[in-house]
Amino acid sequence: MTPPGAFRPGPGRPFPRVPAHVATTRHLGAAYPMAGEAGLGAEGVLVGRDLLGGTFVYDPFTLYRSGVLTNPNMVVFGQIGRGKSAFVKSYLWRQAVFGRRAWVVDPKGEYGPLAAARGVAPLALRPGGRVRLNPLDVAATGAPGSGGPPGEDEVWRRRSELVASLAVACLGRDLLPRERAALDAALHAATAAAVRGAPTLPQVVEALLAPEPAAAAELRTGVDRLLEDGRDVALELRRLVAGDLRGMFDGPTTPGLSLGAPLVVLDLSAVYDSPALGVLMTCAAAWLHGAVRAGGDGPVLLVVDEAWAILANLGVARWLQASWKLARAYGVANMAVLHRLSDLHAVGAAGSEQVGLAAGLLADSETRVIYGQAPGEVERAAGLLDLTSTEAELVTGLRRGVALWKVGARSFLVEHHLGAGERDIVDTDAAMAPGGGDA
Ligand SMILES: Nc1ncnc2c1ncn2[C@@H]1O[C@H](COP(=O)(O)OP(=O)(O)OP(=O)(O)O)[C@@H](O)[C@H]1O
Ligand SMILES: [Mg+2]
Repeated sequence: MTPPGAFRPGPGRPFPRVPAHVATTRHLGAAYPMAGEAGLGAEGVLVGRDLLGGTFVYDPFTLYRSGVLTNPNMVVFGQIGRGKSAFVKSYLWRQAVFGRRAWVVDPKGEYGPLAAARGVAPLALRPGGRVRLNPLDVAATGAPGSGGPPGEDEVWRRRSELVASLAVACLGRDLLPRERAALDAALHAATAAAVRGAPTLPQVVEALLAPEPAAAAELRTGVDRLLEDGRDVALELRRLVAGDLRGMFDGPTTPGLSLGAPLVVLDLSAVYDSPALGVLMTCAAAWLHGAVRAGGDGPVLLVVDEAWAILANLGVARWLQASWKLARAYGVANMAVLHRLSDLHAVGAAGSEQVGLAAGLLADSETRVIYGQAPGEVERAAGLLDLTSTEAELVTGLRRGVALWKVGARSFLVEHHLGAGERDIVDTDAAMAPGGGDA
């Protein structure tokens, strides 16, 4: 029906002529994002439906090989309960068809059903528990491209970066030059004390509290002075070793862990409420990065769920960014799950290092999957994520299970579909159901 007052064509009243609008396809792409997209091909895992037509298939390794992506890493954003973890779990499940292995840092302890479906048990880490992981186990890793062990310098650099990051995170401030020197001297001493295996954090703490005269002489200082220089660092790191968090990352890795399993899940739910969660997740992620090649060759998906806990802490956020850079060389595709876009800004003011780190992490993750966001969030991070104004508006109104996918310079609106058999793997609503959460 024609609304009252609308233009009615008729004899002697032709349609008014509107001048043709001419624009380049580039500009049209901006005006109508996603409308003219040919898709990413059919090779890989089916995610769901492209809401502008067709199915949506995505595989970071294939897209990297074909040159569509320059890195295989992914960041998944979204408000609570929008389906971020459900997507990741079903994605790992579907990737198994292609023989892809997955390693997961699971702070909420919610990947158990997925692990059970794949016939493995999660490694439950808890203070004083049975499983210990040594985050300094770098030697097990293959060197970039070669598959062989990394050079001594590379091993040293990675261990040194990790202990410095943990120290910064525990102290809540940057290290003074003298503290960094004391820490490096202690790491040297601990490496020598470990003879063949990897040094452990208790050995580093011990070396900080009992510095060797040779180390002091090399730094043109006395033993007492070197002890003072490293004392604060030692006392903070000691928490992981002798304090309330002991028994998880403070010794050689428990022998017999099945690293060749198709799925390795590190369950950190016992420490989810700890203020040190970010530090503990970093230890877990460091061990995964270090051990990933020991589990065999072939691409690996390395997931850090609830990654905001790491990014909120400048010290370990730096480590995370550095380790992501290595991803390609080690055949690893990282996937980080965050709540808000502003998790990336965390405590940082505009122009701060934190914001620089966030920008770096995004530069190293060419796939961004953005589930529903609050309007304020989008305003803050639209620039960082290269969202057009249309896209920014769109992501504030997305329903559960629907996300804006930014893959390189291309955009897709994707509805993630769950198969009937997958619902039990992804369900995190059980506690909300009648009678749920009574246990
Ligand atoms: N595509 C989907 N279709 C149907 N149900 C879904 C879909 N995605 C998620 N759900 C359901 O929504 C619930 C919440 O999903 P999920 O745990 O993935 O949220 P989340 O974004 O990871 O939340 P949080 O931020 O709290 O970790 C789950 O129980 C899951 O079964
Ligand atoms: Mg989740």
